[in-house]
This record gives sequence, C-alpha cells and structure tokens, in this order.
Amino acid sequence: MCGIVGVTGVGDALPYLLQGLQKLEYRGYDSAGVYLTDASGKNALIKEKGRVSKLAEKAKAHGFSGTAGIAHTRWATHGNVTIENAHPQKSADDRFFLVHNGVIENYKELTETYLQGVHLVSETDTEVAVQLVDKFSKDGMSTPDAFRKMISLLDGNSAYGFLLVDHEDPETLYVAKKKSPLLVGVSDHGNAVTSDAAAMIDLTKEFIELRDGDMAIVKPKSVVIYDAAGEEVNREPFTLEIDPEDTDKGAYPYYMLKEIDEQAVVARNISAHYFDEDGNLQGIPCAVTDTIQEADRLYIVAAGTSYHAGLVGKRYFEQWAKIPTEVHIASEFAYDQPMLSEKPFFIFLSQSGETADSREVLDNVKKQGYPALTLANVMNSTLTREADFALPVLAGPEIAVASTKAYTAQVLVQAILAASLGNPGFDLKAELAKVAVEIQAITDEKESFKKIAEDALKDQHSAFYIGRGLDAAVALEAALKLKEISYIQTEGFAAGELKHGTISLIEEGTPVFALLTQSKTAGLLRGEVAQVAARGANTIVFASEDLAKEGDAFVLPQVNELLMPLLAVIPAQLVAYYATLARGLDVDRPRNLAKSVTVQ
Ligand code: G6P
Repeated sequence: MCGIVGVTGVGDALPYLLQGLQKLEYRGYDSAGVYLTDASGKNALIKEKGRVSKLAEKAKAHGFSGTAGIAHTRWATHGNVTIENAHPQKSADDRFFLVHNGVIENYKELTETYLQGVHLVSETDTEVAVQLVDKFSKDGMSTPDAFRKMISLLDGNSAYGFLLVDHEDPETLYVAKKKSPLLVGVSDHGNAVTSDAAAMIDLTKEFIELRDGDMAIVKPKSVVIYDAAGEEVNREPFTLEIDPEDTDKGAYPYYMLKEIDEQAVVARNISAHYFDEDGNLQGIPCAVTDTIQEADRLYIVAAGTSYHAGLVGKRYFEQWAKIPTEVHIASEFAYDQPMLSEKPFFIFLSQSGETADSREVLDNVKKQGYPALTLANVMNSTLTREADFALPVLAGPEIAVASTKAYTAQVLVQAILAASLGNPGFDLKAELAKVAVEIQAITDEKESFKKIAEDALKDQHSAFYIGRGLDAAVALEAALKLKEISYIQTEGFAAGELKHGTISLIEEGTPVFALLTQSKTAGLLRGEVAQVAARGANTIVFASEDLAKEGDAFVLPQVNELLMPLLAVIPAQLVAYYATLARGLDVDRPRNLAKSVTVQ
C-alpha cells in the first residue's frame, strides 16, 4: 500500500526519491508525489496520478533536484485518485509538507474542533494532519511540539507513519510512527527515512528501526529519536542483509515469473536452513515447540494467499503433530472471535508481516495473554516483533503483487514445524529435496501452460478451479491467482459442492480446471469432471502421476501426497501468469491491489 521515502543531506535528492518510489511501486498505489527542498529554502512540490514514471517525467522537466525531500506513493482510502489528494499534503501557508501512511479515523472530528475556517483543498485525512501542525505552530508551539500535539490528538486506533518538512528548517525531517513500518537509514553522505528498507538500499544498508510511538528528527548529519514517553533514546542501526539483485527482475519480463521460477531454490534454501546435514531439524527454538506442545489447539490466522497456505498447513499439524488446528481469516477473527479452546496457540502467517487485519488479531490475542508465533517472509516486521516467537519463511523479497513463492515457502515451513512437533512417517528432508527437483521440472515446462492458458482463457470472463481435500485448498489459491491478475472471475471450491449450486453456471466452453492429486477422492473428482464436461465445460485436469489418465492436460510428478500442494499450485500460477499476458495486462501490478495491506 502507501509508501514513504525521504532523504536529507544527500547532494542530489530527486534521483534517490524517484528510485525509492520505484522500488515501492510493487506494493500497489494509484498516485505519487514528491516535495524537494534545499538549505536555502528553494522548493518544489510535484504530484501525479498513475505511475511513478509519469511523476519522474514531470519532476525532471521541472529541473530542481534539491538536497532533501519527501515522497510518497498513495493507495487511495479517503478521497478519490486525484492530484489534490496525492501526497505530500501541505498547510495553507505553504510552510509544512507531509506524507502519511495509515488512516486517521477521527479526522472529521479534528477538522470540526480545530480547523474551522481553514480551507481544505483535498479530501484526505492527511491534509487535516498537516493543517493541524500549522495551526499549533501558529499558536506558538515549536515544530516538534506542534507535530507531537497533532499525533496526540489522533484516535488511539490510528496506525500511522508520518514524515514532515518545515519550510523554515528545510533540511530537517520530522518522523513519527505507530503500527506502520518506518525506518531511518543512516550514512556518511546523508540520511533517509523509508517505509521499506529495500527502497533506500542505493543510499545505505544501515537502518534504525523505529518503535511504535517514536518520534525522530533526522538532519543531514544527525538522527535524534524520542520514545513514546518523549525521552531521548539511543537505537542501534542494523545492517540490512539484502542483495540489491534480489529486488531486481534481471532478464525476466515480470517479477511474477521470476518469483515462480525461484520456488525450487526457495525450497532448497528452506531445507538448508531448517535441516542439518544429518537430516536433523534445526533453527526452531525449543521454546517454540515446548509452548506449542502445551497447547490443546492451534489457531492459524492470516489473510489472502497466506490464509490459503494455512489451509494446507492445518493438515500437517493435525496429521503429523496430532494437534487440532483451525484456520481463520484475520479480518473475520478480529471482530468475531470464535470460542477458543482452553489452551490455544496462535500462528500468524504473513508474507509482509505488516497486514493490518492480522496485526489487529495479534493485538487482541496478546491482550488475552495467549502465546503466538509469526511465520513471516519479512523478518523485523511488526508481526514478527510483536509475537512471542517468529520464524523466517525465507522466500526472499517478493515483489509481484500476486504471491507465489511466499505461498510455497509458507507451506514448506509449516510442514517443517509440524514435523518438529510430531512425525510425518517418512523422511521429510529427502522428500522435500524431491519436491524442489520437481518444482524445477514443472517450471521448466512453462511453455505448456502458456498454451493451456491462451487456449482456455484468453477470451473468457469466468473460470473454475475444483479439487477435493488438499486439492480443494489449492483450488482456492489457484482461483485467487487467476482472478487477481487476469480479472477473469474465477471460483475455487471443493468439487463436492458443484452439485449444490455452482454447476448451474457451467456453459458451453466454460473452463473448469481440476486439481487431482489425492488418491482417496480421485474417483469422485473424475466423476465431477465428467459431470461438468457433460454440460459443455472445457475441462483441464492437472493430475499427479499416480492418478493421471489419458487426456489430462498436465501430469504432475509424484511426491508424497501430502506435499502435492507444493507442486499442484505451480501450474495454476503459470496459467494465471500467461492468461494475464495474453490479455495484455500488467502481471505485476493488478489494478486496485496492494502487496502489503496496511489498513483494515
Ligand atoms: C495482500 C497481498 C496478498 C497477500 C495478502 C496477505 O492482499 O496482495 O498477496 O496474500 O495481502 O498479506 P500477508 O503479507 O499478510 O501475507
């Protein structure tokens, strides 16, 4: 969602800010803006709807680069996608400029109480915040005090990240954050602020993580941080272990394809991390397994693709670790908590570690005193910091909005965690090595899926994925992949439900993809495929080697049946990718979506 970058004392601010915004593009946004300034107070505010490249053209044409500046990608919440609503927002007297992530729940009340008579030019809550700073400054407060006072008035639920510039002290950045990621980047040639470290790696790899309630004053050669109580604190920087090439798409046309292809390597990396050379599990602290063993039920909480990964993980925890497991959608659990068992243990699954719905549940669960573990791809994220325990998912940076390698990585890490709690009854390490080889084999045959996608989906407006058991769980993820990027309305569901309603949607040529990897129900699923075919559906079966029949569209290599989701999802990812390409759409940046959903 929205992204923030800022720099000061860098000599030439605009290139850093534009590169930063470009690196944040993957998170999803619909407008962007930049405010540039220098020590003399010369400044420029440039905003644009749509892509960062359009903003870059406009900013370059303007010709001023500045030595400091703040910039933002906005994903509209309050107010339409317009230049007026894009950030930075400014105060009426052009003194303060502000970028903001989050939602100010009580902005209307604040406007009525404090800003009577102030003409607001945008529809945003952010403009209210910057006008408030201006008002308090006019009342006689210093800029840090006015900034602090504005923050103190925000509704207690508001998550925020703010970056403010005062034109009267142009190279100073005022920063504040709560439950929205914000880091200060430090270097000998200028300092930076960013909501995502990857956006500033061209300037530095040294970052200070701000905590909730912190306020920081960042100048060209100094960083001063105050905690929530207003006390000056010293926070040590950490070095970001990231290879700039990991965030690059190299020779690939789209990040999504690169990330699909990376899944074999990810599987190997995960095994190398969690198994030693003798095949013993490592890297899962005893405190984690001991605490889980004390639980009488696991609650997996997640959103989107991560929720779908949880549906597969449930099987491992129940079958191997023998612990009853429920999987919940975070946004539902947050406001309708189900009746819990006596000794629940929570597992949060998240690629980003920042999803607002999941954070809300974690907050609630902590207040109730229950233990929680986060499995996240981005460590040092809010969900990893705030849970009692955290384990890395190790997919590496995932940039495409449609999640692929994070899904397989989450399934893999859940399998490994479940194995550490019980017994899969087979050599998991050896089987995972085979999984990696077979993922590679499927991705090597990507051209087959290009043809399947083009033939079946190019001109369709609806499609279906069906399966039973674990294949039903994968069908949900497969359908999400296809619909979110190709805009083909796709339903994924348990095949047994076909006859209870959905079969009435089948028309001549309707594509119905069947995932067939579970022997117990293979016969039934074949029956369902025949039933839709008899009604005109274009059936496309992806079956595992042991269950495949002539006429199946693709035969998946055979691995242990419980691990088949790791293979069955790959054709679905590739079909989604190629269908989207065939329809001439932007694979990596589907409309209206954000990579990291930081508002509820
Ligand atoms: C967004 C992303 C999805 C992701 C979901 C949950 O909708 O586009 O790919 O699955 O958020 O995000 P998380 O980071 O918690 O896994």
